[in-house]
Amino acid sequence: MRTFVNLAAAVAITLGLIFVVRGLASYIFDKPAVPVPAAMKQEPPKSAAAKPAGKPAVKQAAASQPSAQPAAKQAAATPAAAGAGDPAKGKKVFNKCKACHFADKPKNKVGPSLLGVVGRPVAAFEGYKYSEAMKAKAADIGTWTEDKLKAFLAAPKKVVPGTKMAFAGLKKEQDIADIIAYLKSLQQ
Ligand code: HEC
Repeated sequence: MRTFVNLAAAVAITLGLIFVVRGLASYIFDKPAVPVPAAMKQEPPKSAAAKPAGKPAVKQAAASQPSAQPAAKQAAATPAAAGAGDPAKGKKVFNKCKACHFADKPKNKVGPSLLGVVGRPVAAFEGYKYSEAMKAKAADIGTWTEDKLKAFLAAPKKVVPGTKMAFAGLKKEQDIADIIAYLKSLQQ
């Protein structure tokens, strides 16, 4: 019995170690993949020479040479994999909101226009009569940052108890990210 327990413990520890080492390894080796999109973004305004020497600069220089096309593609694909929103999909998900909101014009329906809502102060669309609950929460929430919108769209009545937005909330995080991307795409 004891041997068995010892054996089990040894196996558990070994598995744990493998896990940790793998985690560390992927942390160390995957790390350069993260700065790449950031470096790519800074590429148009700044020349590679302006960058401080370092791994990202080296990668950037390499990427801007012959294979600029695939590198750019990769940069575009990385945020999507990380769960960033897709405006085209968001447009479809927005069908759930359409009955009550315009996203593309500054006109109110049952709910306020959502044109420009990302980054807009809460309960601030001119000419819309917000509920007392929403007005009371406005100071609290402040501005509809992406994170605040995410929380609100997942559970409107939890974030703003008493809101007159009669909508249960979106269950899928991806749907929410897509809608936010769609809303943002309209206000640029
Ligand atoms: C049944 C109608 C209805 C539906 C469906 C609906 N909303 Fe609303 N929405 C409202 C109303 C009404 C308000 C104003 C709430 C208040 O004043 O309490 C509101 C408020 C909001 C606000 C706050 C706006 C501001 O200016 O502070 C956001 C953001 C929002 N809705 C997004 C959405 C999104 C995104 C969807 C779809 C996933 C959606 N709503 C679906 C009716 C609706």
